[in-house]
Amino acid sequence: MNQLFTPVRVGRYTLQNRLAMAPMTRSRAEFDGTPGALAGEYYAQRADVGLIVTEGTQPSDDGQGYLTTPGIYTDAHVAGWREVISAVHAKGGRVFIQLMHAGRMSHPDNTPHHRQGVAPSAIAPGAPMFTVKGMQDIPVPRALTTDEVRQTIADFRHAARRAIEAGADGVEIHGANAYLVHQFFAPSANVRTDAYGGSIENRARFAIEVATAIADEIGADRTAIRLSPGMTLWGIDEGAEGPDLYRYLVAELDKLGLAYLHIAHQGNEALLADIRKHWKQTLILNRAGRPREQIGADVTSGLADLEAYGQLILANPDFVARLKANAPMNQADRTTFFGGTARGYVDYPALSEAVMA
Ligand SMILES: Cc1cc2nc3c(=O)[nH]c(=O)nc-3n(C[C@H](O)[C@H](O)[C@H](O)COP(=O)(O)O)c2cc1C
Repeated sequence: MNQLFTPVRVGRYTLQNRLAMAPMTRSRAEFDGTPGALAGEYYAQRADVGLIVTEGTQPSDDGQGYLTTPGIYTDAHVAGWREVISAVHAKGGRVFIQLMHAGRMSHPDNTPHHRQGVAPSAIAPGAPMFTVKGMQDIPVPRALTTDEVRQTIADFRHAARRAIEAGADGVEIHGANAYLVHQFFAPSANVRTDAYGGSIENRARFAIEVATAIADEIGADRTAIRLSPGMTLWGIDEGAEGPDLYRYLVAELDKLGLAYLHIAHQGNEALLADIRKHWKQTLILNRAGRPREQIGADVTSGLADLEAYGQLILANPDFVARLKANAPMNQADRTTFFGGTARGYVDYPALSEAVMA
């Protein structure tokens, strides 16, 4: 496990250890997308991990899917994120903002403009979503025109610029978990007949163009991407060609010299080994529900350069200290994952408090 606590190069930075906080939506932002008042405290409490990847953050009005998620495209968003990021920097941490365009995983009741969601094709995900009026079915989205696809890439570029203005150390493109970038990969969500649909090359094009645009805007060494090969939630079916799409995509992305690739692993070990081969730069691996005794194994084996954990870090602000001390971990309270205020957000006890209590 000791290798976890050695420094690692990520893009232009040297991080203090090989642990990353996985991105986690907490739905505690203001209605206009400004990070909530407690976000700085929440992230700063967790600044001992080498890298914090923030909750998914929309690059535009169209990019919002869930209720009260933060944005990074207006002056108010930038001012809010600046406070959050300086709180983390003051504690020696590093922050990449996750740029998340929800695509069809969106409900008009949740967005500032209340418009129909946008997606590669007009195909509903077949899933319900929590909205301001309770659970509702997600409606059929509107297919983006080719010009609008290009505008969406420009929105990502603009959001990356604004993230840097807010002091972020970089951005992670959310290419995983059934949101817009992932929707382009999957034939079940993308039946386009232009340059962004059809062949593997065409379905991978949107992700590559977003990454290229952002790398051009803020530097490849501050640009990263998250992928979840084989993920099947919310109507996503990558089809038999899925693994080949990822082999092609990762090899193309590798040419850009990005800061890191973040894999939200879904279980295909052979594909993961191939991805490691195709990816010459830093790789962050997140395995859902990793048992305690396995923490550090992927860094030790060389499969990953960093390991990312979500719920363990959500529930343990002093995750690194607990790991080092081999101390017990707090359990995450699922009922306070999304929305609400301080409870389940900034009040998880650190080890010293837990022992004293
Ligand atoms: C409350 C919550 C919110 C999440 N939000 C995001 C998100 O915004 N972006 C993302 O890429 N993954 C998101 N995830 C997935 C996590 O990043 C991670 O992949 C998942 O929790 C499995 O890792 P874990 O077992 O270490 O928590 C979320 C997970 C949780 C529990």
